[in-house]
Amino acid sequence: MSISPLRIGVWAPVHGPRAAWQDPAEPFDASWPHNRDTVLEAEALGYDATLVAQHTVNPHLPEKDQIEAWTAAAALAALTRRIEIIAAIKPYLYHPVVLAKMALQIENISNGRFAFNLVNAWNRAEFEKAGIPFGAHDARYAYGREWLGVVERLVSGESVTHAGESFRISDYKLSPASPVRARPRIYLGGESEPARALAADLSDVFFINGQPLEDVKAMIADLAARPRRGAPLAYGLAAFVIARETQQEAEDEYHRLLALAAKDAPAKQEQAARTDPNVVMIRTFAKSVRVGTNGGTAAGLVGSYDQVAERMQAFHRAGIELFMLQFQPLRSELRRFAEHVFPRLGRPATGTPAAVASPRATRIG
Ligand SMILES: Cc1cc2nc3c(=O)[nH]c(=O)nc-3n(C[C@H](O)[C@H](O)[C@H](O)COP(=O)(O)O)c2cc1C
Repeated sequence: MSISPLRIGVWAPVHGPRAAWQDPAEPFDASWPHNRDTVLEAEALGYDATLVAQHTVNPHLPEKDQIEAWTAAAALAALTRRIEIIAAIKPYLYHPVVLAKMALQIENISNGRFAFNLVNAWNRAEFEKAGIPFGAHDARYAYGREWLGVVERLVSGESVTHAGESFRISDYKLSPASPVRARPRIYLGGESEPARALAADLSDVFFINGQPLEDVKAMIADLAARPRRGAPLAYGLAAFVIARETQQEAEDEYHRLLALAAKDAPAKQEQAARTDPNVVMIRTFAKSVRVGTNGGTAAGLVGSYDQVAERMQAFHRAGIELFMLQFQPLRSELRRFAEHVFPRLGRPATGTPAAVASPRATRIG
């Protein structure tokens, strides 16, 4: 398997902190200024990508703030110069023609730095309270497959005529297409069999929830063995990082966050009641104690700077090209990682204020 250079991204704080919601070191903040400033700083530090998760209502604390993913992604596209902006999308929420048009607009605003991440939803309340149908697990993927097939052709600039189970589209062509490439990049995040099949058929990058190296290797082997047209599938990994000078310091911080996260247990129970029990990723989450969302620390990126860098290199050798990282407190840890772990990954150390003024000047293709 040929693996592209390692890329590093950060989750935008769309619904506040990722590890614990009652942390004196990280007051709850899901505001636009916090999201904007985080992504701008990440870009200045040399991070390669940001992931803007999509939720119309905060999925953890429904009464708290939540950033709207697509309008925020458009604004981020206008404000940044280099970083890849990946916005998640749940097919039931937008007609494919409307979404494809939005994707191409952000692709144009960003001059070819936009990507979307198809995610097939787990939070029943987000849909049912709005009166939007929430199909059974595999029915959601059948809908998502038809939806993505249409979107992929539209964002490629094709004239689309389609008569399927859910959509009837005739002679529809969107303009302008991407100014610099065939189409925006397509990610897919999900673990079930229909998610894997759809990723192999129609996506460019399969996004994996944080989990141990051996499990990630098995998942990559499964995906890589599937028939596919075009370029080989690439792989991304979500992970929560706690990196310190020593392993002991990192573990102490892990236990601080774990103790704080325990205070969120009542809200997590309510969240579990809103979750579709057939979602496969929750079985993965149940296998480990961890902090962070989407697998969080289950990927094992808790340790000394050397250990974290070595483990990331091992994931990279296994096929992971993009790490989508979570930190808490977000901004200071983002800088710490850029200062101490970047150089151990063969990148310039950029976490110091002087270095931030001269970010790496590369573009994504
Ligand atoms: C990297 C990644 C990002 C995700 N982002 C979102 C998101 O923004 N919104 C959301 O509702 N679900 C998100 N999900 C969860 C997926 O929507 C999906 O519910 C989940 O993977 C369950 O599907 P499965 O049964 O195929 O595992 C994400 C999953 C992954 C792996």
